Amino acid sequence: MEINDLKVAFKKNYGEGNVSGYFSPGRVNLIGEHTDYNGGYVFPCALTFGTYCVIRKTNNPFLRFASLNLESNEQISLDALTTPLARGNWVNYPLGTIAQFVKRGFKPETGADILIYGNVPGGAGLSSSAALEVVTAVAINDQYNFGIGKVDLALMGQKAEHEFAGVNCGIMDQFASAMGEADHAIFLNCDTLEFELVPVKLEGIKIVIGNTNSPHSLDSGKYNERVAQCQAAVETIKPFKNITNLAEISPEEFFSLEDKFNDDVAKRRARHVVTEIKRTTDAVRELKAGNIVEFGRLMNGSHDSLKADYEVTGPELDTMVEEARKIEGVIGSRMTGGGFGGSTVSLVKDEAVDTFIEQVGKKYQERTGLKPEFYVAEIGQGGHKIF
Ligand code: GLA
Repeated sequence: MEINDLKVAFKKNYGEGNVSGYFSPGRVNLIGEHTDYNGGYVFPCALTFGTYCVIRKTNNPFLRFASLNLESNEQISLDALTTPLARGNWVNYPLGTIAQFVKRGFKPETGADILIYGNVPGGAGLSSSAALEVVTAVAINDQYNFGIGKVDLALMGQKAEHEFAGVNCGIMDQFASAMGEADHAIFLNCDTLEFELVPVKLEGIKIVIGNTNSPHSLDSGKYNERVAQCQAAVETIKPFKNITNLAEISPEEFFSLEDKFNDDVAKRRARHVVTEIKRTTDAVRELKAGNIVEFGRLMNGSHDSLKADYEVTGPELDTMVEEARKIEGVIGSRMTGGGFGGSTVSLVKDEAVDTFIEQVGKKYQERTGLKPEFYVAEIGQGGHKIF
């Protein structure tokens, strides 16, 4: 879809006149999974595919929402911007984001017509919902001159997810979508929100995303269950070390307390989190030092821990990672995002990319009956105005 097609589609839907357009990307996380809501580190990068928002302010007492991807349209009164729609309605994502403006005292006093188009494959674990939240936040902030900073816009997107979609997610996805820079990954401390943009210049290596096309989408039930299990682990550790989240305990301290856990599940969840935070800081150090082989080894360790201890991988992601690691020229391969289906991310030497896509695709399809898709990732820029 070209920019001009978006303008034409907007005018077809809402009529002639001037329009503005904004874009926010999806993300791929290189390492640091299920650490964000534990106050740990993550290392995602923004992609070049994402969500577009075409918008025009009106004198109507309502906002209108339409999408080129989905059928249903909504018209919401300016007095009803903080009320969620029925669960499952896509408009909850933009509406939930706009609700955060209202809650902060920034109420749109006039209406707007909004058209959304996204090219992040849905259910692929590449943050199509965060892209939609962040693009809405960036567009509304700019159109109404609210003057809110980008980190706050990301936090507002996260709140929309909590309050309007029922997923108690961390900040990684919205932060990456808002703050990403081309050719850089974001080394983010999810407790303090301090971050560093780390150049990802991989000589002779590509980042390949494999979409399992597994029918499982991010299941808010299982995700929220993991969040609760981590909180239970914090409670177990508290009598021995007064922590408020799992990022405050080192792997060594954790291992010395492992026998205090009666609940084996909480113990394994915590073990993943504390070791994953260490793997993430190690991985960033190795990347900066140019030790890409070590970076890949840590990626593999991440997946294995997400499989054995955190139990968020499932047969499709495991199969794709297993087949990926058989290919010569693969430096590391792991699931990315929330899990329970979705995508893998692999570092693949240039000369092995075609074989990778062909062989992993063939074997994966033979073993699961599902047809996967592969994308060679380009690292793009965070949410911004395009016209
Ligand atoms: C989802 C959530 C993120 C993060 C990842 C797992 O993408 O939205 O906040 O927790 O899962 O790392």
